Amino acid sequence: MKEQMTIVDDFAKDTLAGLASFPKSLSSKYFYNDIGSRIFQDIMQMPEYYLTDCELEVFTSQHNEILSAFKADNKAFELIELGAGDGLKTKVLLSSLVNQKIDFKYIPIDISKQAVADLVQDLKNQIPDLPVEGIVGDYFKLIKKLNGQYRKIILFFGSNIGNFEWNESIRFLQHLRSVINIDDMVFIGFDLKKDPELILNAYNDPSGHTAAFNLNLLKRINDELGGHFDLLDFVHQEVYDEQTGTAKSYLMSRKKQSVSIEKLGKAFEFEAGEKMLMEMSQKYDLELIDELAEKSGFQIVRNFMDSRQYFMNSLWKLKS
Ligand code: AVJ
Repeated sequence: MKEQMTIVDDFAKDTLAGLASFPKSLSSKYFYNDIGSRIFQDIMQMPEYYLTDCELEVFTSQHNEILSAFKADNKAFELIELGAGDGLKTKVLLSSLVNQKIDFKYIPIDISKQAVADLVQDLKNQIPDLPVEGIVGDYFKLIKKLNGQYRKIILFFGSNIGNFEWNESIRFLQHLRSVINIDDMVFIGFDLKKDPELILNAYNDPSGHTAAFNLNLLKRINDELGGHFDLLDFVHQEVYDEQTGTAKSYLMSRKKQSVSIEKLGKAFEFEAGEKMLMEMSQKYDLELIDELAEKSGFQIVRNFMDSRQYFMNSLWKLKS
């Protein structure tokens, strides 16, 4: 119950901060309520959204190499996934680990209770021999608590890291570094820079799933914070900056309007054509990945890429 309250309070606080700034912004971390998680499933099914297929290809085609790199000295380890979602891609690695009789335990962590419960049930059905223990809550607190006898490999897939601003991503990884031990590793998925049109299309789909994904956050503000957004008065726009490798999702106000949010005790003014930043999805190259590892205190052990070189999974250890 207490946990629930903090989440709602954070949502209110972050929403107020974002709408009171100029330019306005909202945080994409609040996209993933039950409806939002379902819309994200639809996004992953779209032909334009290549990220999921690419990462799945990496795991399918290189699971042996990946597992060898994980194993190190054959000591038992815990495989801890941050924001596990439906675990579709991770399953490939998990099956392979179980088949090779490697001594490990899978620990998916997610903020959504439902997501964790569904995933654990699904895994128990599909891979009966898999040792799995799902946990709900805050990543860092939980990793710290786990700190014990086992080596840890932290998984952060899907290019979720790209939702952070550059400095934020460094702080996140430095924090991660501070709660793990010297022989632990992290395995991160990065979407790579590529043909700008391909990237733009992944976030600008004709089916409208990405627009719905963004608009769902306004709906969530209406439902949970007593907001009065009319979803028809906002339109989704996507921009990709090839120079910086940053894709940005905006919602643009179709007209001059005032939107009150009861729980914030305030109304917010929108100009006609005003754009509110909803999400950024950073694209990387090897230089950026190197720099990110270096600045956050890690070193690259090995990189794994798909055949089209669209996506990279990078295995890191602490910098010595
Ligand atoms: C799950 C954060 C990696 O940024 O590509 C998909 C979310 N947003 N379509 C991404 C998303 C719009 C996705 N991540």
